[in-house]
Amino acid sequence: MSSVVVRPASRVRGRITIPGDKSISHRYALLAALADGTTTITRYAPGADCASTLSCLAALGVTISGPAGAPDAHPDQRVVTVQGRGLGGLRASKAPLDAGNSGTTLRLLSGVLAGHDFDSIVTGDASLRGRPMRRIIDPLSRMGATLRGDDDRPPLAIHGAALHGITYTPPVASAQVKSAVLLAGLHAAGDTVVTEPQLTRDHTERALPVFGVDLFLANGDIRLRGGQRLQATKVRVPGDASSAACWAVAAAALPGSDVTLEDVGLNPTRIGFLSVLKRAGARIDVADGPAVGDEPIGALRIRHGGVTAVEIRAAEVPGTIDELPLLAALATHGGALKVTGASELRHKESDRITALASGLRGLGGHIEEMDDGFEVLGDRPLSGGTADAAGDHRLAMAFAIAALGAGGPSEIRHADVVDVSYPGFFDILTRISEL
Ligand code: S3P
Repeated sequence: MSSVVVRPASRVRGRITIPGDKSISHRYALLAALADGTTTITRYAPGADCASTLSCLAALGVTISGPAGAPDAHPDQRVVTVQGRGLGGLRASKAPLDAGNSGTTLRLLSGVLAGHDFDSIVTGDASLRGRPMRRIIDPLSRMGATLRGDDDRPPLAIHGAALHGITYTPPVASAQVKSAVLLAGLHAAGDTVVTEPQLTRDHTERALPVFGVDLFLANGDIRLRGGQRLQATKVRVPGDASSAACWAVAAAALPGSDVTLEDVGLNPTRIGFLSVLKRAGARIDVADGPAVGDEPIGALRIRHGGVTAVEIRAAEVPGTIDELPLLAALATHGGALKVTGASELRHKESDRITALASGLRGLGGHIEEMDDGFEVLGDRPLSGGTADAAGDHRLAMAFAIAALGAGGPSEIRHADVVDVSYPGFFDILTRISEL
């Protein structure tokens, strides 16, 4: 599969079990590798990104079995066991570590490798080799490691060392940077303190205590004492809120739609898209479930209730960052969306402002690019046409959801990139779409 044709739908209806969260799966796998004992992770995320984290850890001497289920198996069948090597216990890899398309793998693993007394090279695919790494090179160098990459991009050569804790305020709102520093801080002498300019997803802070690490959170500071041992555990990954957002947006977009999404992670730092959908007119019911591993979960029922114009400004960007392309897709269904303060979008798996604009235009959409955002006017229905995913899984899915409201069929080029986070996406789209 490289191109997929999406046909217009009148509505979407159905019940969907959401596969495990990508961000949380990376963190559980990394912490399990550093723990003493064997950790079992159920509902491990199915995409290629989380497989990259496991293959990098295996190359560093970690014994891993699973995931037992195929990528599109029922989420409960996706079980991974990790035999931890203990804090500082990874072994040098003979070959460069390949993070594939996964920025989270590369940045978080760099934090871990900074505290291991050997040399590593971490790299990835063409997209990842184009992404900025100064944001982790600076703090990890201040802690005592040496990191080098041409033009501050991967491949990164990391010379691990005995680290010391630092107090750090990331210059950009980034959970990957925060997490890289905290993971290095585990290996460092003394305390590491991260102060975030804006709160980003807090999965690392929630996961560390699950593995027995004490963290102190006060006045926006995250304080971690280095040298704490991690204990293996059994964890269950909540459904990925970013994957759930695809179906939530489709249901919000098409009149008569009604979808129920089960087992969705409802971490407040991830569900900014729900507030935006409500503002745009969607009818949303949330049924909270019991928390797993300190992550809230629940079921969502989303029904169409009109699509009106909405605006997203800087303060709301960290909580919606990965869903902005989908929210742009919503706006093509008769609403409008103006996003500002989101220049980080230019440093994702693609330049997500330019590639989003060119894809939506290819489907007949009306979108203006700004340096730090974009504006979509849904003043006319999409005609259908061709959109290129530009190597970006989130764009492939957003174009598909936009295409449901078009006058004719749409071709999404290089659509197989959805496998990075959501294998089976197009099968579900077909199942829930009604003509
Ligand atoms: C992620 C953090 C975000 C997000 C990415 C996953 C994470 O990136 O866009 O998809 O798992 O920590 P930044 O930290 O670069 O904002």
